[in-house]
This record gives sequence, structure tokens and C-alpha cells, in this order.
Amino acid sequence: MQRRPERAGRPKNRPNHPHRQTKLGPVIKNGPTPPQAASQAPAYAFPDAWTPWVDETIPQFVKSRYSPKENWKDKPFDKPDVRFFLKGVQELSELFTQERPRDLPAYFRHPKFRSAYLLYFMPLQAAKFILLFQQHAKAVEAALKYAKKTGVLRIADLGAGPGTASFALLLILMKSWKEAPSTIPDIELLWVDTNPQALEDGRLLFDKFCETNPELKGRVKLRTEVAPWWKAPKLLDGDASLILLGNVLNEASDPTSHLRKDVRKARRDLGPDMEFETETHEPPTATIPPEWKDLLKVAKGGGILVVDPAARGSSQRLSRIRDLLLPELKPENPRETLIWGPCLHLGACPLAQGRDWCHFSVPMKVPGKWFREFSIGLGSERHWVKFSYLWIAAREYPAPAADRILRRVISDPLDNSKQDILICEPGTPRKFRSARNRDLRRGDVIRLPSKS
Ligand SMILES: C[S@@+](CC[C@H](N)C(=O)[O-])C[C@H]1O[C@@H](n2cnc3c(N)ncnc32)[C@H](O)[C@@H]1O
Repeated sequence: MQRRPERAGRPKNRPNHPHRQTKLGPVIKNGPTPPQAASQAPAYAFPDAWTPWVDETIPQFVKSRYSPKENWKDKPFDKPDVRFFLKGVQELSELFTQERPRDLPAYFRHPKFRSAYLLYFMPLQAAKFILLFQQHAKAVEAALKYAKKTGVLRIADLGAGPGTASFALLLILMKSWKEAPSTIPDIELLWVDTNPQALEDGRLLFDKFCETNPELKGRVKLRTEVAPWWKAPKLLDGDASLILLGNVLNEASDPTSHLRKDVRKARRDLGPDMEFETETHEPPTATIPPEWKDLLKVAKGGGILVVDPAARGSSQRLSRIRDLLLPELKPENPRETLIWGPCLHLGACPLAQGRDWCHFSVPMKVPGKWFREFSIGLGSERHWVKFSYLWIAAREYPAPAADRILRRVISDPLDNSKQDILICEPGTPRKFRSARNRDLRRGDVIRLPSKS
């Protein structure tokens, strides 16, 4: 099933690697961290404010809003509540593993699924943002730099649901806020979603969050808008310091479906090498969807971060969007790039089609006692997070280009010798034979030997 990896439990026949901090940037084999990756150690840490949010604020909010009995509502969240809400978590997990995510019913219309999302899926998705904000700390810095210039950190969270991505950012910023309040400007959040009930849940949860973190009071403003994500440029009060799209593109309509045909045809014409124009490594020309053009125009500071499920369909759709946007992502200076990650080049994505796709699997224990209970209720304790992502840099705040000899590993070992892996090259993946015992995995970044 397409989205099965998003369920709890460990993948079959796939050992966990507790010694690895992450499969993204910082696990560099035989080479330096690419400039756009975050610091080496620790690769990520959950902020102090995480546990009270996940163990108290969310469950208490859900219980008071969604318990069927009035006299339960004020009691602390406890094991019987896990049993009560688990059914919704299980059913929603089943829905999310469907073959065609865009045929999903409007699950957020049902209280059972909204409560399930808040209790289990929201911490799970937020954990991915927590990881990426730290992996790409320089992109977050760019958002803050731009905010200092304008006096406000304006965040657009598109397909926000209950505000997952924004909460993750607030949790990350809380530390600096407590230690040096003047380093964080006032924040304006704009949440755009087609589902009003999910937005309302998020708004009420946000009020609770501000009550438990009084330093935020009066310094963070939230506006919600019921609208499709692509209307955001018209809804914003000014340019955004950062735009976040969490698990929405895979559900929303696909502006790239026409490109799929173009890419298939181009690849047929080009034959088995499957390289796009060999000089430029550019994908076939196709028009940039106007909704993306408009979004790029208002994305300043930290640019646009898109996180989608790790499944092939959603990942390849994201790769195609990336390829469509490439003409807009040419940096002025060759030592810069307009992609913070995961791409180390600005050629066509080699995984936009075909058997493989660009995704990451990061060993991670998401802290939270109720989260753990729900994940056990789904099968077994969760030990990793999986996702695909693309972080586009703003033109005025480009990322440093990666060293030309660095390559990202885009497969797990291809055979038992564990030496052969695929590395990311413009247009087509390249098979690479590594030294013995290197144990390279998807997401690692390697330095090519000088003769290759
Ligand atoms: C899986 S939820 C993700 C919520 C949140 N971003 C997160 O990461 O937890 C997907 C959200 O996208 C919203 N959505 C679906 N299609 C949309 C569209 N075209 N425009 C805006 N929101 C949309 C749904 O209502 C839902 O709230």
C-alpha cells in the first residue's frame, strides 16, 4: 500500500540504526557537511517545550473538546482516553495508507478524525518539521534576518490543518525567546486551509498554548483563512518570512499532471540514458504553474518548505514541481543555490519518475507518553520518521552551493556486498561503488573520489 510507511512500527527486515543521528545532511561519509546542512552534532533535539505540549496541552485540549461525556472533560487525560481515541487513530491511519491520497474523504469534517489527528498525527508531523528546522538552521536564520528587517516574522502555513508546522516552529523559537526575547521579532501567523473545523481546532489549541507560555502573549498573532493554499499570496498582509506546506500537496490538486506526459515522452525520445539535454541537464520545458510563480514572489527570508509523505506518488509529484520551478531557481552567483535541501544540484531530478523516489527515513524516537501509547496501539512503538521534502530558498537569501564533488546517496545498498548504491546526478541516478564497510544509506552525503 502506498502510504504504509507512515504507520507505526519498524519496517520489516530493516534494522534501526541507533548510532546514526539522522540520514540527512549531518551523516556525512568521507566529507564535510554541505554548506546548507545544519551543524554536525547533535543532529536534532526536541525543544524543552515539546513534552508539555504533546503530553499535556494537546491531550487535555482534545479531551475537553471531544469527550462524549460532560463530566469527563475536566479530568486529566489518562489510559482509558487512549482506548477511547485509539479507534479514530487506527481508522485514520488506514485512510492515510490508501492508494490514492487525493481521493481521501474530507476526514477533518469528522470529530473522530480531528481528535485522532491532534493526538497522534500532529506530533508525528511536527517532529519532521522540528528535524528539518534544525537540519536547515541557516534557512530559519534567513527567515529571522528578513523578519528583523521588516519588524515581523510573517509565517504562512498552507494546508495548515490545526497548525502543525507553525507549532513546530514556535516550539523551536521558544528557547531563544526565553533566553533572549529581543532576538525574536513579533510573529504573524497566517493559516490557510480548505477545512474550517481543523483551523478552529488549531486556533483554540493555539490559545491554550499561549496560556501555558505567557511570554508569547501579545507577541504572536494568528489569522486563519478558509481557502485553497494557492490563494495565500492574495491573503498575506505582506511578503512572508517563511512559507510552510505540510502534507498538503499530496492531497491537493496536482498542477504537474501535464508534465508527467512530457517527461515520459522526453525520456522515451532520449533512450536508455534518460538524460535531459546533456549540456544543461534541464527538464523538458513546461510552463511554471502560476500559483507557484505567485508563491515564489511573496516567499522572502527562509523561502518555502514543503514536506510530504515518503510515498512514491507524493514524492515524485514534489520532484516534478521542483523540476517545473527550476527556471525560477537559477542563482545569480554560481557559488549559491536556491534550494536549501535535499538537492545538491540544480539539474533535473533523477527520481521524478520510475521505480525509485526521493525520500528520507530518519531514526527518531518522538518523545511523548501518549504518543507512544497510540503508536503501540497501531502496532508497535515508532522508531523512525519518513518523509519527502523540498526547501526552496528566497532569491534575496540564497543558500551556499554544495561543493561540486559532494553527492547525495539516493538508495539503500543495492546488493548484499553493501558497496553499490545510487547517487543523485542531474537527470539520471548513477550507480556508485563505495569502499567496503562504508555502510552507506539513503540520504547520506559522500565526497566523490577525485578520479570519478
Ligand atoms: C494531512 S493534513 C496536514 C495538516 C498540517 N499541515 C500537518 O502537517 O499536520 C492536510 C491538510 O490539507 C488541507 N487541504 C487539502 N487540500 C487543500 C487545498 N487545496 N488547499 C488548502 N488546504 C488543503 C486539508 O484540509 C488538511 O487540513
